[in-house]
Amino acid sequence: MIQLRGVKKSFGQNEVLKGIDLDVPSGGTMCIIGKSGCGKSVLLKQIVGLLDADSGTIIIDGNDIQHISSSKLFDLRRRIGFVFQGAALFDSLTVFENVVISLVEHGEQNTGLLESEARRVLSAVGLLPELDHDGSAMYERAFQLLRNKKPGDLSGGMRKRVGVARALVGEPDYIFYDEPTTGLDPITSQQIDDLVGDLARKLSVTSVVITHDMFSVFNVADHVAMINDGIIQFQGTVPEMRACQDEVVVDFLSRYVAEGFR
Ligand SMILES: Nc1ncnc2c1ncn2[C@@H]1O[C@H](COP(=O)(O)OP(=O)(O)OP(=O)(O)O)[C@@H](O)[C@H]1O
Ligand SMILES: [Mg+2]
Repeated sequence: MIQLRGVKKSFGQNEVLKGIDLDVPSGGTMCIIGKSGCGKSVLLKQIVGLLDADSGTIIIDGNDIQHISSSKLFDLRRRIGFVFQGAALFDSLTVFENVVISLVEHGEQNTGLLESEARRVLSAVGLLPELDHDGSAMYERAFQLLRNKKPGDLSGGMRKRVGVARALVGEPDYIFYDEPTTGLDPITSQQIDDLVGDLARKLSVTSVVITHDMFSVFNVADHVAMINDGIIQFQGTVPEMRACQDEVVVDFLSRYVAEGFR
């Protein structure tokens, strides 16, 4: 479980987060919504430790991440997978190298282990047949073809899947997605939403998805949190959000839902 209390962040005069109180329950999927520039990515980067908060506390599974030893923080980070906004693959690296990069950076040199982990995560995101077919000629051909591809050879949807596969390496307890469907057509977006939901269920990970795609919210969210003007304007379940009378929430939903259903 993740708990944020009074988390603040400014960049110079720009007061982005003014005191965020948020509870991410274990299991299930939480979507974080809010206008462009409201601080969603900043919030996520603080939770995963890529940015420091100015004040407030961030507690992950009982650990206050700003007050634990660096070795404990290192262990905690390994339990968190992160899918960056725009997938952010390394263009000069192959799919295989992109997927196992965190293991290689942590000194893993056992090629057999790297390959089996790559096969596992690429299957989990649907880029390879299920692992039951391991050893079949078709599976092997698919793996060899895919592993040497460069991100530039892949479609947008496939790149997102590779980004998700990379986040699954090491079997994390949490996966954070920063706008996984932005820039995809509606059908591919739906497939990525389905993947996010499937992974949360199959691997029983806790997922946090930043999105401004209300279809995604209705498709995948168990819980929703909305950031507005530096604070959490709303948090609750999807039915609670739909029933919410708060003016800001009603206004946000009516704009986005109207756009989505056009
Ligand atoms: N490293 C940084 N240095 C200075 N300002 C930053 C930095 N990162 C973010 N900001 C500012 O913080 C604010 C929030 O940015 P953030 O990227 O979190 O928005 P967002 O809600 O993720 O928007 P979007 O939906 O467009 O991705 C913006 O005004 C942005 O300019
Ligand atoms: Mg963002």
